[in-house]
Amino acid sequence: PHTAVIIPAAGRGVRLGPGIPKALRLLNGVPILVHAVRAMAAARSVATVIVVAPPDGAEGVRALLDEHPLPRPVALHVVPGGSTRQESVRLGLAALPADADVVLVHDAARPLVPVDTTEAVAAAVRDGAPAVVPALPVTDTVKQIAAPGPGGTSRTKSQGGEPVPVTGTPDRALLRAVQTPQGFAPDALLDAHRRLAGLGGEEGATDDAGMVERLGLPVVLVPGHEEAFKVTRPLDLVLAEAVLARRRI
Ligand code: CTP
Ligand code: MG
Repeated sequence: PHTAVIIPAAGRGVRLGPGIPKALRLLNGVPILVHAVRAMAAARSVATVIVVAPPDGAEGVRALLDEHPLPRPVALHVVPGGSTRQESVRLGLAALPADADVVLVHDAARPLVPVDTTEAVAAAVRDGAPAVVPALPVTDTVKQIAAPGPGGTSRTKSQGGEPVPVTGTPDRALLRAVQTPQGFAPDALLDAHRRLAGLGGEEGATDDAGMVERLGLPVVLVPGHEEAFKVTRPLDLVLAEAVLARRRI
């Protein structure tokens, strides 16, 4: 029995700007994906890491990972991903060893998650929770806006332009921002993917625990960590390099 990790790394990284896929961009000379794999391999319960590579890039990713030593020996698999994150996770699940008793799903785009956060998530699953999510309180106040009309442009993605009407303000004290690794009893995540297969677009999930919630299973939160932030926009690269510089002192 052991913990297996799926690392979805098949995204393009559109919000980071043009260039190579986000997971292959360098942080202090080392690909973001390598940082993420090392962060997972550093956890003592982790025995298997399944990297979900860009659809046409599995061989290149395999070669890249073979060049970079890991802090602990783990069984490392690389599989090609899909066009959505949900599909990439499903393709990673197909490579899950039958004897895994905990499965973690960790974004390649969160390269600096501390090992204690990973261990806390895995431990909560071993203690019986079917789904465990690291989370932090929200610092910004969050506003709700109306859904875009049919055929309308997605206002949620607008970065400026026309003023957008507000429809509500949820109580910030009751909100949490969630991170990865998210941890699951393997059957819970496998069932969620079987039952929700094929849902895409607005029906699709941006987070794995959200799929398990739809099965009606309980999802619990454990404390996340500021350094588990997701590298999404260019400023996040600056922050990530600053975190690495501070760690070396
Ligand atoms: N991901 C994936 N397969 C996809 C899309 C995303 O494996 N088809 C992965 C990304 O590689 C990333 C994680 O899911 O590690 C979180 O996604 P996100 O931060 O949104 O990354 P991208 O989708 O690559 O970025 P963007 O949305 O800006 O294009
Ligand atoms: Mg994305």
